[in-house]
Amino acid sequence: MKYKSQKVAYWFFATCMLLLSLQIVYGFIMGFARIGYDGLHEWIPFNAARATHTNLLVVWLLAGFMGAAHYIIPEESGRELYSVKLAWIQLISLIVVGVTAIIGFHLNWWEGRKFLEIPRPLDYLVVANVLLFLFNIGMTILKGKKYSTTQLVLYIGLLSAALLYLPGMIYFRSQTMDSYFRWWVVHLWVEGVWELIMGSILSYLLIKLTGVDREVIEKWLYVIIGLTFLSGILGTGHHYYYIGAPKYWLAVGGFFSALEPLAFLGMALFAVAMYRKSGRQHPNKIALYWTIGCAIMSFVGAGFLGAAHTLPQVNMWTHGTLVTAMHGHMAFWGAYAMIVLAIITYSMPMMTGRKLWNNMPGLLAFWLTNIGMVGMVGAFAVAGIAQVYLERKMGMDFLAVQREISVHFIALLCSATLFTTGVILFIYNFVKSGQPTDEVIVPENSEEEFYTPVAERN
Ligand code: HEM
Ligand code: HEM
Ligand SMILES: [Fe+2]
Repeated sequence: MKYKSQKVAYWFFATCMLLLSLQIVYGFIMGFARIGYDGLHEWIPFNAARATHTNLLVVWLLAGFMGAAHYIIPEESGRELYSVKLAWIQLISLIVVGVTAIIGFHLNWWEGRKFLEIPRPLDYLVVANVLLFLFNIGMTILKGKKYSTTQLVLYIGLLSAALLYLPGMIYFRSQTMDSYFRWWVVHLWVEGVWELIMGSILSYLLIKLTGVDREVIEKWLYVIIGLTFLSGILGTGHHYYYIGAPKYWLAVGGFFSALEPLAFLGMALFAVAMYRKSGRQHPNKIALYWTIGCAIMSFVGAGFLGAAHTLPQVNMWTHGTLVTAMHGHMAFWGAYAMIVLAIITYSMPMMTGRKLWNNMPGLLAFWLTNIGMVGMVGAFAVAGIAQVYLERKMGMDFLAVQREISVHFIALLCSATLFTTGVILFIYNFVKSGQPTDEVIVPENSEEEFYTPVAERN
């Protein structure tokens, strides 16, 4: 770590750990409800659990991106963060807004728009919060000594994510119009600008972990951005098939969304190629696992499992079933959860000085979460495909089908237990690393990246 102010990233990451744990609790509440154990129904009905589960996911990922920015931007700009105090105000207000929204869901204060359930008045607070964050990071870049592609792509990704939140706040009387613009947020986030955030964090980590020249890595980043925009913008059409939008979206959405896996394939090939070229052995092997793992799993979850149901001929059967949940879990996990866990794994030893890299809990955390997630996705896939056949091909009643497929949720819960064990081990390492300290700040003229305080050297 080079700058004192980078330490504030730790608190964003700690928030991630807390919210991820809570998200999993709500996953289990839904999983048990699916097999008939719905004892909490009176207080936490399925719809409230679902909205809480997915919104917690989005908030902890955003907290992770913000933490990553607070860690990466000072280093890439060659100066301290513009204001640590602002970062604190922003983090605390983010938590306050998040907690208020979640309490609201339990009191039936929500908008029934999937992923955008946060009520409009709170949306304005979200906007104010994000503006504060963008100002702080933007000023750091402006006043910095140097610019880098990685840093600018990260900033542009964050800025565009903020701008794209706005179309979801417009009020429409028409369901079609509301749906149309809801996808500007949901789709253009995960299949557009969040990919810039992911690509830039990936590129930062690869520069640090593989030692390959920045020029080479950043050239790849341009290619990935190009592929993302080429396919992702018009790819939005794969959500316009059946909402009442004009018919040409069937062709446009089908064609361009079928190209979307290319960007994720690009990232996977890029990460593996850089790993192979790597000239140095960075001691933090687990961070490399998470980094390369993220590039590969995002291709599987977003690219491959996304393409599996993106053509109108397939989507007309699978739309809105558990096939979507199958893809949603693996895509969010591979692309965005894993990149956040990668930057946490990389930066924790840098901030705290505790070299908990390559220990058994860390390795097990990586494998158990990933194997558990593959199992969960398998369970959703089997349930989803059965649902499509029974409900949509055979014409069975919706609820009768739900009872038929509930057995697959036992498999889901078993795999989720494996996954959760992995998360607990990750958090164990996080807590054991302790808090960040100024003692590990790399002196101005030192070439080292990881600074061991003199007292601890042997
Ligand atoms: C990391 C990137 C991605 C993430 C996090 C992600 C996540 C999700 C989520 C959560 C949904 C459900 C949204 C809702 O109903 O409100 C969804 C839907 C969908 N995704 Fe993705 N996705 C990603 C990339 C892709 C890609 C690259 C493709 C295509 C190649 C794709 C194809 C689809 C389709 C067709 C649907 C609609 C499913 C339906 O009709 O119910 N996704 N995605
Ligand atoms: C580990 C325990 C978890 C369990 C038991 C679980 C279970 C569930 C269940 C039952 C649903 C509702 C599906 C339905 O509509 O019936 C759901 C939705 C969802 N979960 Fe999880 N989940 C877990 C963890 C995660 C994680 C770690 C992520 C992200 C990385 C995630 C992302 C999502 C998303 C995006 C949806 C919405 C899917 C859609 O739009 O259809 N979940 N989860
Ligand atoms: Fe999409």
